[in-house]
This record gives sequence, structure tokens and C-alpha cells, in this order.
Amino acid sequence: MKNPSEEQSSMQEKKGVSRRAFLRGAGLTTAGTVALSAGLLSFKLEDAKAPPAILGPGEAEVRFVVNGQARTIWVEPRTTLAEALREHLSLTGAKVVCDRGSCSACTVWVDGKPVNSCITLAVDVSGREVTTIEGLAQGDELHPVQEAFIEHDASMCGFCTPGMVMSCAALLKRNPNPGLEDVKLATSGNLCRCGTYPKVFEATLAAAKKMKK
Ligand code: FES
Ligand code: FES
Repeated sequence: MKNPSEEQSSMQEKKGVSRRAFLRGAGLTTAGTVALSAGLLSFKLEDAKAPPAILGPGEAEVRFVVNGQARTIWVEPRTTLAEALREHLSLTGAKVVCDRGSCSACTVWVDGKPVNSCITLAVDVSGREVTTIEGLAQGDELHPVQEAFIEHDASMCGFCTPGMVMSCAALLKRNPNPGLEDVKLATSGNLCRCGTYPKVFEATLAAAKKMKK
């Protein structure tokens, strides 16, 4: 006879979603979830059915592309993407504030989709492309969302700002004509304790307009 947790995993497997695949999906930010529901992010059922690779207890190799550069790091399998970026690659732009997937200050893109890097395992982004706030500008040229945040004074203490910018820039990538409600939805997982929301919305809509010129 199966115990309740075995029963639950066998039910999940029957539905084609393993525990590991579920945890992978859990890293998505609200904006990433919106993309998912819009059908822009295809959840691969074949990935969910593949037996998970056994990693650890020692360090595992992670090869990925970060801000356009191929990088290889060795990390313990429990290392989050946020820790890998900040501690192994000195990319400290993504901020770790809650460290539990509830504020989105740590938002980066994985294959162009926003994820909370504090609840995404580094080993799960092996072979993928990661973009952080440091990789958003093109050389000395800021991304239009970054410029608009400056012009519209959309940052106060700045802790939420990198995550906000990544969520707003991801929105403009998938929807060049957003309305106010779209911006609100895209940033609904990004918490700002300084209350800069009206300025963030204003800046993002202004950036969308500028990008169309
Ligand atoms: S630090 Fe990652 S969601 Fe808050
Ligand atoms: S600017 Fe301070 S938390 Fe958003």
C-alpha cells in the first residue's frame, strides 16, 4: 500500500508533471506566469517525464550563457541561480531581498522569460541563456526602460529596481503596445516598499512609446 506522498507523486506522474518539473515552474515570476498562460512559454512535458539526473553531493558543473558570454561554474546542487550569479560571477544587480519567491527583486531572464532567481536552482539553467540587469544595456546605451526609470524618477531606495526593470522590459518584449493594466499585471509580483508603482507604470508606458518610434 502506498503512503500519501507516494500516492500524490504517482498521481502527478499520471498527469505528466513530476515534483522536480513543478519546482522548475515555481521559479517563474508573475510576469513569467502571465507569459505561460499566454502560451508564450511552452512547458515541455517530455522534460517532465524524463528521469531527473542524479546530482551531488559534490559540486555540479553548470555551463550556460550569461549576458551573451559562455560561462562555466561548479556549484553545489542546492545553489540558487541568484547565489550563482552574485557569488560565483560577481553579478550583484539582481537583489536577494525575501529569498523565498515572494518579492521578485531577484528577477532575471532565463531564455528571455522572467524568473525569480532566488527559487531557481543554478543546475536547472545549465544549457540556457540568462540575462541579468547588467546585460540589458547595449554597451553604453541603456535599455529604453532603464532610461525611462531615470527620466520618470521611478526608483527610490533601489532595492526593487533591477527586478522591476527586468519585469517591465520583458513585458515590452512580448507586448510592444501595453496598456496600464498590462504593466500592472506584469509587475504584480514585484514588491516595492517605497511605493514607486505610479512612476514605474508611467516609465514603462513611456518606454513603450519611445520604442515604437
Ligand atoms: S528575493 Fe527572490 S523573490 Fe524575493
Ligand atoms: S524603490 Fe525602494 S523598494 Fe522599490
